[in-house]
Amino acid sequence: MTTDHLLNGQAEEEEENLEMTLRPTRLEQYIGQDKVKEELKIYIQAARQRQEALDHVLLYGPPGLGKTTLAMIIANELAVQIHTTSGPAIEKPGDLVMLLNELAPGDVLFIDEIHRLPRVAEELLYSAMEDFYIDIMVGSGAEAHPVHFTLPPFTLIGATTRAGMLSAPMRDRFGIIARMQYYETADLEKIITRSAALFDCRIASSGAVEIARRSRGTPRIANRLLKRVRDFAEVIADGVITLPIASKALEILQVDQAGLDITDQKLLRTLIELYHGGPVGLNTLAANIAEERETVEDMYEPYLLQIGFLKRTPRGRMATSKAYTHFGYPFLETEE
Ligand code: ADE
Repeated sequence: MTTDHLLNGQAEEEEENLEMTLRPTRLEQYIGQDKVKEELKIYIQAARQRQEALDHVLLYGPPGLGKTTLAMIIANELAVQIHTTSGPAIEKPGDLVMLLNELAPGDVLFIDEIHRLPRVAEELLYSAMEDFYIDIMVGSGAEAHPVHFTLPPFTLIGATTRAGMLSAPMRDRFGIIARMQYYETADLEKIITRSAALFDCRIASSGAVEIARRSRGTPRIANRLLKRVRDFAEVIADGVITLPIASKALEILQVDQAGLDITDQKLLRTLIELYHGGPVGLNTLAANIAEERETVEDMYEPYLLQIGFLKRTPRGRMATSKAYTHFGYPFLETEE
């Protein structure tokens, strides 16, 4: 989701449509996340055999790794309906009550960005998740009285970028907690090859590897880059995505050799050029690159930490020797 906040409504909608077209619908077709997949496969089969609702599932990990896709696949494999919403979309408890009211036995309620659910809505979910009922106040003033609603057994699937952002009582109510990992290049290559086939676009395997290698371990980015590279292939060549075409297009898109986008580059360069590599507090760093603190924390940092370009210290963020080398700077060891 690197630049999602910069996209206008139309481009965002286009990207959503693209994701819909490319989305696998069965667990079998879902590439990567093997550990998550293996576990889910068992739990889904067990729930089906017992004809029970699947236990509540929490999916957490950086944006763009396929949490929504996986939620849809789970519902599909369970052969139940999925009702989709998100934390910020629920403004008052009534919004949640309406959704809960529509559930049939065994259905999935998917709440994206569940950490952004308002407190009152979150509290309603506690009894809904644990014992399948809610108590709500109906009427106002002297007329106000509590009403008890029983709910059918259902599965809540929550998605969040960081499990630590959920309150402990909420987290404790999920029987299945799955951590999504960044994808290996080989898995991204398969995803890109599959997407290219769905687009009717010819791609050399070296071209697919090049896009995969530079997609920050993230299928959403891989598919977005594929689409842009395809444009270049069609306009400046014969439409086939080869290694030279992919390299050229990615260079123009300012995705560097390590797959860092312009914001990653800005973040690390700021640390190195302005702050001698840090340590720098997160707020200062975010302000310097004109991004929200949360965006830096959820989207940029996890990948930079994973590839060892950034480290977290008690006094702030620091660029590593690997980051210095990447940008062609000599690394002088300093105290933290
Ligand atoms: N498209 C996006 N993510 C995918 C995945 N994990 N497997 C297959 N296709 C995908």
